[in-house]
Amino acid sequence: RTLDWNIATVEKQGFRHFMLKEIYEQPSVVRSCLETYLDPSWNIENGEEKSPIALGLAAELCDNVDYIQIVACGTSWNASVVGKYLLEQLAGIPTMVQYASEFRYSPAPMLANTLTVGVTQSGETADTLAALEMEKQRRMGLEFPYDARILGITNRPESTLAHMVDRIINTQAGIEIGVAATKSFTAQLMGFYFLALELAYRRKRLSLEKFESLIKGLRELPNQIELILSQQEKQIEELAHEFIETQDFIFLGRGVNFPIALEGALKLKEISYIHAEGYPAGEMKHGPIALLDAKVPVVAIAMPGEVHDKVLSNAQEAKARDARLIGVTSVDDNEARSTFDDLLFVPHVDEILSPIIAVIPLQLLAYHIAARRGLDVDQPRNLAKSVTVE
Ligand code: G6P
Repeated sequence: RTLDWNIATVEKQGFRHFMLKEIYEQPSVVRSCLETYLDPSWNIENGEEKSPIALGLAAELCDNVDYIQIVACGTSWNASVVGKYLLEQLAGIPTMVQYASEFRYSPAPMLANTLTVGVTQSGETADTLAALEMEKQRRMGLEFPYDARILGITNRPESTLAHMVDRIINTQAGIEIGVAATKSFTAQLMGFYFLALELAYRRKRLSLEKFESLIKGLRELPNQIELILSQQEKQIEELAHEFIETQDFIFLGRGVNFPIALEGALKLKEISYIHAEGYPAGEMKHGPIALLDAKVPVVAIAMPGEVHDKVLSNAQEAKARDARLIGVTSVDDNEARSTFDDLLFVPHVDEILSPIIAVIPLQLLAYHIAARRGLDVDQPRNLAKSVTVE
């Protein structure tokens, strides 16, 4: 035991928990995704001739795709909902995300020209594997355009998933030890940016200028994440101290950041055992608003963009019910300062790239609340890193 403990201490490289270490690894994970999947020689001059994305996907897999269905569980499911927004907004392909445990028993009707995507960090989650197997079986022997085309997004190229699909995107986040997924989530988001951009390129959905600006934005992410980690952690740690006794939390987001509200809530409940719900901000009035009072803090993701003002007005409705309001935003103006009790500032990015920025303070918040409560952050009760049974 002593030996194990010593090895673990060395492996944590000075961090108190693996989860914190893994949160801090995110800039380098994103950097390595960029190095692997962006073609460095692509530019706007040669942009017509080749794709900026180097995923190596075969035409049979990703041309003639009219519909995408994604199956996943847990954090991978949340990443997939971000993926849905990206695939729809950037590539223009209608996309459905299903819990694998639901899909395997109530699959959507079979449509033509469908790409099925299985997203699993471990590549071993029983429900996800079974859902994909079911899809494979029911399309077995069917010809184009009803043939099975299955792509995996996984962190484990040696996994069972990798062997059962036509192709994987290897998210290469490295081994993740903390049960609560952090760096593997951001790496999955990167996988979805590349997939959505590749499909957008093949379908000529975006101008070369748009590709250029999105790629520039993607390349800036690692430094921006570093900035959040170096400038925000102390403030978040102090803020966390105020929620040691809190029993409920609400997270709100809209559009591409709605799933980040889900992920912020999931992180918090997984490791701190605080009841937390993520909601699309506009839905708050249809239920969760009844829960609000001074004892229920609300975290609103209010990144600049099309829905910023909407989120702000939803947050103000929460404030009118005495909720303590925490804002994640890069807008530093009077309205934000007067709306939110606490502001977690993050760098300004294009709205479509903002999930990867907005999730970082939420991971830190969940981590520090749990650590402050003295909980076993890396191995929360009742949870397993990978659920290999139904
Ligand atoms: C477990 C883990 C979660 C994870 C989920 C899906 O519940 O505790 O962190 O998100 O499984 O795992 P997968 O390996 O399929 O992404």
